Amino acid sequence: MDEWSLVYDSYLPRQEKLREALCSLGNGYFATRGAAPESEAGAVHYPGTYLAGGYNRLVSEVAGHEIENEDLVNLPNWLPLSFRLDGGNWFDLDKVQILDYRQSLDLHRGVLERSIRFAEDQRICRLGQRRLVHMGMPHIASLSSTLVAENWSGSVEIRSALDGRVVNDGVERYRGLNRRHLEPLHVEEQGTERILLKMRTCQSHQEIALAARTRIYRNEEHLEFNPQCRTEPYYIAHHFSCDVAAGDTLRIEKTVALYSSRDHAISECSIDALKTLHRAGPFEELLSTHSEHWSRLWKRFDIGIREKNGEQGGRHALILRLHILHMLQTASPNTMDLDTGVPARGWHGEAYRGHIFWDELFIFPLLNLRLPEITRALLMYRYRRLDAARANADAANYRGAMYPWQSGSNGREESQRLHYNPKSGRWIPDNTYLQRHVNAAIAYNIWQYYEVSEDMEFLSFYGAEMFLEIARFWSSIANFCNKNGRYEIHGVSGPDEFQTGYPGSDKPGLNNHSYTNIMAVWVLCRALELLKLLPEERCEELRTMLDLNDAEIARWDDISRRMRVVFHDDGIISQFEGYAQLEELDWEAYRKKYGDIHRLDRILEAEGDSPNRYKASKQADVLMLFYLFSSEELRELFERLGYPFEYETIPRNIEYYAKRTSHGSTLSRIVHSWVQVRSDRTGSWRLFQEALESDIADIQGGTTPEGIHLGAMAGTVDLLQRGYTGIVTRGDVLWLNPSLPDDLHCLSMCIRYRGHSLDFAIHQDSLQVHARASNASPIKVGIHDGIYELKAGEAREFSL
Ligand code: BGC
Repeated sequence: MDEWSLVYDSYLPRQEKLREALCSLGNGYFATRGAAPESEAGAVHYPGTYLAGGYNRLVSEVAGHEIENEDLVNLPNWLPLSFRLDGGNWFDLDKVQILDYRQSLDLHRGVLERSIRFAEDQRICRLGQRRLVHMGMPHIASLSSTLVAENWSGSVEIRSALDGRVVNDGVERYRGLNRRHLEPLHVEEQGTERILLKMRTCQSHQEIALAARTRIYRNEEHLEFNPQCRTEPYYIAHHFSCDVAAGDTLRIEKTVALYSSRDHAISECSIDALKTLHRAGPFEELLSTHSEHWSRLWKRFDIGIREKNGEQGGRHALILRLHILHMLQTASPNTMDLDTGVPARGWHGEAYRGHIFWDELFIFPLLNLRLPEITRALLMYRYRRLDAARANADAANYRGAMYPWQSGSNGREESQRLHYNPKSGRWIPDNTYLQRHVNAAIAYNIWQYYEVSEDMEFLSFYGAEMFLEIARFWSSIANFCNKNGRYEIHGVSGPDEFQTGYPGSDKPGLNNHSYTNIMAVWVLCRALELLKLLPEERCEELRTMLDLNDAEIARWDDISRRMRVVFHDDGIISQFEGYAQLEELDWEAYRKKYGDIHRLDRILEAEGDSPNRYKASKQADVLMLFYLFSSEELRELFERLGYPFEYETIPRNIEYYAKRTSHGSTLSRIVHSWVQVRSDRTGSWRLFQEALESDIADIQGGTTPEGIHLGAMAGTVDLLQRGYTGIVTRGDVLWLNPSLPDDLHCLSMCIRYRGHSLDFAIHQDSLQVHARASNASPIKVGIHDGIYELKAGEAREFSL
């Protein structure tokens, strides 16, 4: 199996939308689904183009309520390129006889290819297409199409269009909502090759300009045309007509430039789109520079695996690369200069409206250890919304900064208040916005970024301010309970979205949610450490700026020692207070009745029941603690809190919650696999393999077509990168503790750590690390119980 190509060798209309998502091309600035250029949105196809951070709000009426949603906008379609033979019907793959079909995504170069041999009446044609969204020229995309007339002569009419008649129609369950986000501004023909379309989002007033250039060659001779131009307010097309003889090849190159009024260093977006288009060379030249950019990225990001079962190795390596590709298509060096976060579903579709959740917790580790500048840029997205987070906290009567569960353009809470259950056809209140733990994730990410990069300037100017304000929020949401002599946090929900309130209660939220409480303690501990770590004058500045006095700091310290954690069944960390009293679910009965029960919440609601009644989790919740912290770190936290912590606590909790989890989120298997890396290597590897299939096989049965799951994609790569290598960056030491699954012979990769590029080769019984030549200061590497110094240019080998 070719480990660098995702190949489909037949056309399957029912899989088309899934393949479109998986074959999306993007460059961190914009992304376009892998839809056929001639296709239109409908039951089979869904072309979509999305700009990183291109949001717009619309008000809709739902179940008698007016609700406003902010969506990632489906932009005008730049793909449309079609043809018709001898004045017949426009080419439609669903209507011709397909003789040969092959679609492949070249992961190494970021190129989507399609070759089709088809017959229409008696005419046989070969169509070959290659497409790229340029990684080095973020505004440019290009499509090259060749059409060979195998056995006929006649006329061909070619239509090359920019189509702004699109609406947001990619997610079926949002169809009851308003979907038209774009209004027309301007269409224009520019000479014989170029067309221009300019539109505007109706609420955020973001202008979008698309300029396209179409050039046609017959047997490599450039044809001069006087094309017909057809326009509508939302649409513009060039029509070209020419003759072909049997054996002739027509080559059509369509190159587009996309700009938005939010871009830096522009005059007006259509002027800049035309200017950039003018500078863009022919397809082959664009392909060559684009491939060079990808090849540089792969040098940093690729991960090598060799498995005992060679065949599987091929498939796993391919999927891992597919995951890396999609991560880089969502957040790339082009993102460094943008004001965007990292969306849970990539810029690949409309699911979750392009919102930013906590999924960066699963995504950043890969970026941190490869190209930390990207993480820095994504953290700046949070920093710019610090004031909004302060206002969120204030509105909820807390202090400090409370980041929203779902974030979009300006940091307002974008979670929907009602969600649609397709199983029951009902709109139901959605209380998942109570996931305050997103604030701990942001703090954790700031800390991790610093540990890996040692970027003190970022930490002191941006990171620390966010961190301290988040700590302040946790302090203000915690209340001291005289009865228990401990601090408590009430009215939140955790990562497990099945549990958002107590059975029968009208009031949403849970009390003393363990993951939340312990994360709050961790944040407060690190905030105290941060105050010591910062340069003295900056610390003083911040304390004055934030009005952070000794009494408040003393309160942080007190909370970090006396936060309440609830246990049951002798050592099981209760997911929240009252969890022990919930009913057990009859998992077998539900599996028998429904087969796929990963969205048990929808099943139960449709039955008139509620998941809140049961010990049933959608995804890892308590187990997140073992995912984020080593046993030593957890021991320290528990000891500080005065609770017992035996190593045995970990496997017991894993076993307890594994039985009660439906894995309704693709993030869940990552965590379950991770926490079993040492205790159950086979089980961990099995879950890792299942997690790998999340998107490529659309294991949730229909969610991937609406957008990839970026957390699971990056998370699987990170399972190899950090999970099985035991890499922990803590306290100025790069800790290593490999535990390769039996099926894995060898793992190789290159990571960045504190200015060094480190090459790793890990086998079952040995680990080699080599620091490439550089000027970076020596680092400390910890393995087993020893800490060793590693200088640039030095190599070390350890037996395991
Ligand atoms: C999961 C969340 C996740 C979100 C976006 C939900 O289904 O429960 O944990 O953040 O999807 O990926």
